[in-house]
Amino acid sequence: MNPAPSTASRLTITRPDDWHLHLRDGAAMAAVLPCSAAQFARAIVMPNLREPITSTAAALAYRQRILAALPEDRPSFTPLMTLYLTDQLAPDEIRRAADAGIVAAKLYPAGATTHSSAGVTDIRKLYPVLEAMQQLGMLLLVHGEVTDPDVDIFDREAVFIDRVMAPLRRDFPALKVVFEHITTREAAQYVAQAGAHTAATITAHHLLYNRNALFMGGLRPHHYCLPVLKRESHRLALVEAATSGSDRFFLGTDSAPHAAALKEASVCGAGCFTALSALELYAEAFEAAGALDKLEGFASHHGPAFYSLPRNPGTLTLERTDWTLPETLPFGDALLKPLRAGQVIGWRVQAG
Ligand code: NCD
Ligand code: ZN
Repeated sequence: MNPAPSTASRLTITRPDDWHLHLRDGAAMAAVLPCSAAQFARAIVMPNLREPITSTAAALAYRQRILAALPEDRPSFTPLMTLYLTDQLAPDEIRRAADAGIVAAKLYPAGATTHSSAGVTDIRKLYPVLEAMQQLGMLLLVHGEVTDPDVDIFDREAVFIDRVMAPLRRDFPALKVVFEHITTREAAQYVAQAGAHTAATITAHHLLYNRNALFMGGLRPHHYCLPVLKRESHRLALVEAATSGSDRFFLGTDSAPHAAALKEASVCGAGCFTALSALELYAEAFEAAGALDKLEGFASHHGPAFYSLPRNPGTLTLERTDWTLPETLPFGDALLKPLRAGQVIGWRVQAG
């Protein structure tokens, strides 16, 4: 498409997909699912439920629950399911999953983030599973942070590249790997030079905020996610990668809802809920970089290409309109605070 001048009042793009989404389950899922279904045609659904999705049967049952909870006006939203890798997962389960249309498996280093205690303790234990995935063309999605308590939390992603990602790439050169929600210059540079089988998702909040946002006038739990926000130089590197036009960077919101009471607690759960205004937040970030013309590739073209899936047939239109995000949303029997709650945003996705 033609570059949109920054004064354009609307922007129409191929309908986008969210390549990294937490939908939760039950009433919480029913509360947040309409937000994603309103903007995206498909989403890669993360498997880190309280009871993690470690089998094909569990993934298919979860898929059914999502489909059953879809709003009537969005019946065609497609959840793309993933498996949660554990030390015990057998290569046979990968074969069953591939046969059942499960597109990817997620590597959570044990203890790295929300609901990751069942994750992998040593990637070498996974080698037979990774061999099967490489053979079957199943994607590996990686939460790229080491969990060693001696490594500073702001350095965990950069250290992961040397300790885990580089050896993994060397040992499984044909495995398609997505470095999820990258947050550092090191990760952006690594992915840019790692070859055609390595890609990365980038969240809207990591494009818009640096780590100052965690501490502005007091501790800000709704800006706390993992990997944690980094300093400004890293944010700038992420913006450069996302707006570069490279097809190895694409949209993944990492929208991760937690009840407001659990965020505003002495121990705050990690995750930002962005699905309510996902495309609006990305549009703001791309516009600030003078790169609105690169939004369509990032949001709608690069992801399907990497996953070997067709682009979506429909479109989505963003209008330049100020609107105020609600303070809270219902979230099962709790409340949920969206990122930017009560604040104005300058773009709005048109209904339809
Ligand atoms: C995610 C969650 O809440 O499930 N939290 C987050 O901070 N991003 C897990 C994850 O993606 O790390
Ligand atoms: Zn996530």
